[in-house]
Amino acid sequence: MISPQTIEQIKSRIDIIDVIGEYVKLKKRGVNYLGNCPFHNEKTPSFTVSPSKEIYKCFGCGKSGNTITFLMEHDKLSYVEALKWLAARYNIEIEETETSPEQKQAALASESLYAINNFAQKFFEEKLFTTEEGKNIALTYLYERGFRENIVKKFQLGYNPSAKNELSNALLNNQFNKEILSKTGLVVVRNENELVDNYRNRIIFPIHNNSGKIIGFGARVIGKADKAPKYINTPENELYSKSKVLYGSYFARMAIDKANECLLVEGYTDVISLHQAGIENVVASGGTSLTVEQLRIIKKYTNNITIIYDGDNAGIKAALRGLDMAIEEGLNVKLVLIPDNEDPDSYVNKVGTEAFKEFISINKKDFIIFQLEIMMKDAANDINKKNEVVNTVAATLSKINKAEDFTKQQEYIKQCAHLLKIDEGGLINLVNKYRRDSIVKEEKKLPFEEANTLLQQNAQQQTDTEDYFIASNDEVQEKNIIRVLLEKGLKKWNDEQTIAEYIFNELEAFQFDNKQIENLFNEYKSLYEQGAEPTVKSFLYHTDEAVRNLVITITVFPFELSQKWDEVLEGMNIVNRDVTQIDAQLSVAYFKLKKIKKMLEQNQADMEHASFNEQLQLIKIHEELKQIEMQITKNLGSVILSS
Ligand code: GTP
Ligand code: MN
Repeated sequence: MISPQTIEQIKSRIDIIDVIGEYVKLKKRGVNYLGNCPFHNEKTPSFTVSPSKEIYKCFGCGKSGNTITFLMEHDKLSYVEALKWLAARYNIEIEETETSPEQKQAALASESLYAINNFAQKFFEEKLFTTEEGKNIALTYLYERGFRENIVKKFQLGYNPSAKNELSNALLNNQFNKEILSKTGLVVVRNENELVDNYRNRIIFPIHNNSGKIIGFGARVIGKADKAPKYINTPENELYSKSKVLYGSYFARMAIDKANECLLVEGYTDVISLHQAGIENVVASGGTSLTVEQLRIIKKYTNNITIIYDGDNAGIKAALRGLDMAIEEGLNVKLVLIPDNEDPDSYVNKVGTEAFKEFISINKKDFIIFQLEIMMKDAANDINKKNEVVNTVAATLSKINKAEDFTKQQEYIKQCAHLLKIDEGGLINLVNKYRRDSIVKEEKKLPFEEANTLLQQNAQQQTDTEDYFIASNDEVQEKNIIRVLLEKGLKKWNDEQTIAEYIFNELEAFQFDNKQIENLFNEYKSLYEQGAEPTVKSFLYHTDEAVRNLVITITVFPFELSQKWDEVLEGMNIVNRDVTQIDAQLSVAYFKLKKIKKMLEQNQADMEHASFNEQLQLIKIHEELKQIEMQITKNLGSVILSS
């Protein structure tokens, strides 16, 4: 266990911008930093980091937390590992307190998994290099395939002997927990209680995460795979998630960065052979279609990806499936097919490094054009099929981010129109139609919060402040009230009242529509009334994550209220007046105004189905509401004008 003193020391040294900046390109925006969220797929940055509060928050996916939770979530580290990572970064010596057997037992699952994987890797490596069976069967096979000792060692390859449970016994002798063992996929439970090695008689390929830790294994049969599957891979567990891994990324990082290009192949052996040939900017997808998470690993280092696949059909199809996504991610995708039933591994061994490199550079073809050519060959002279091709290409081209890559899109349209022998203007229209369709679809799909943010981002372009606040969703007004309470509630409104009391009084007759916000409001109120003097801090460590997130959203990054609010406040020439008071007054006024508008709308709607008598009643209500609205508007105007 890390001592509390060390933990304190680490916490005091944390620089959130420095740490997150390691993973996300951050740009300064006012007092905060902004970047593309590493936790979800996005094109416009909504991942915000506050250096002063040491907190991040993504307005797209809602994830938020501090430096430690970031490392835990992003690198799948345990709490202790995150602390150790930080300690190493800041050269802090770790003082450990004694670990009891109970504490060892209670260690987090992922930490145990790492420990087991580490142990197993050493076990496999030793079996490969030092046992007769390993040397005769496995190492010989690897050498026959052309892998040399140093590359086998670099990739930490190993061998699981053919006996029933050599590894299982070694693991059990080392007191690893049985339940966790079965999660690793290294062993299976037989006859209820017996552990049996799962990768018997197989070559072991450890799979590393980006920081070089072993998260899983691939295990290959030796020689031809007749009955059994050629490879068995680690099942999904706390460490290993197939869709988020690119084999070799740890060994390739620097080379990808340097070459500004990432080669993507299918298999473990392709990666290793290319490394051996001195081509190190290479990772493997494992033969399935690419996922967004995998593309994002690449994107951290480069925008240029060259996919090198076997010429067989299955490989191409798998590759093509990842195409649109890669384009949406802003990657430049090239493709090369290796001829004659070879794969990159066999091909580089056959022709050598230089010829391999030359082959790639001569034959790599732009993915979009490549796709178009295949489809056109398929369609031949069939008019319907050709129509389909045009539509598919237009859909793909519409995925190119116009704002970032306008020229690129134009260039493609020109080229594709030429190849298809169709009018360029027509293709442009079609591309734009697909773009519009997908935007509409996306908006329908968006969860409420995200849609809301989007709405506000669009609204930022609006110049009329008042229109903006009235037109936007009333959640904005509700959140704004909470913000004022949390930030300024304890300050004085006048000699008799605090801001909080002013707000409680003013809003007595009103209701919140958002239940979460309402609960927060009530909780604040009850804390306040107990004399607890609540502030932002009172809620930051709230047991309910939703409440924490809400508070962070509202107070730390109030850009939901956009710059408009600041503009209103800053634009005022405040001489004798307190900006706090104006803030509170405006927030209350806009809140009420929005609610009144909603009531008016509801009233209007009720009117349509009402009887004559009811209508008279409703008209009266309408007039009263209008009166109140006018009054508030007048007050609002006077607040703004008089300052
Ligand atoms: P070698 O045949 O040893 O050269 O391996 P390879 O990497 O060339 O294999 P192949 O091209 O057949 O497959 C590419 C990748 O797909 C492999 O590296 C594995 O990740 C995966 N794969 C291949 N066969 C299997 C299988 O039977 N089961 C599973 N789960 N994955 C497989
Ligand atoms: Mn192969």
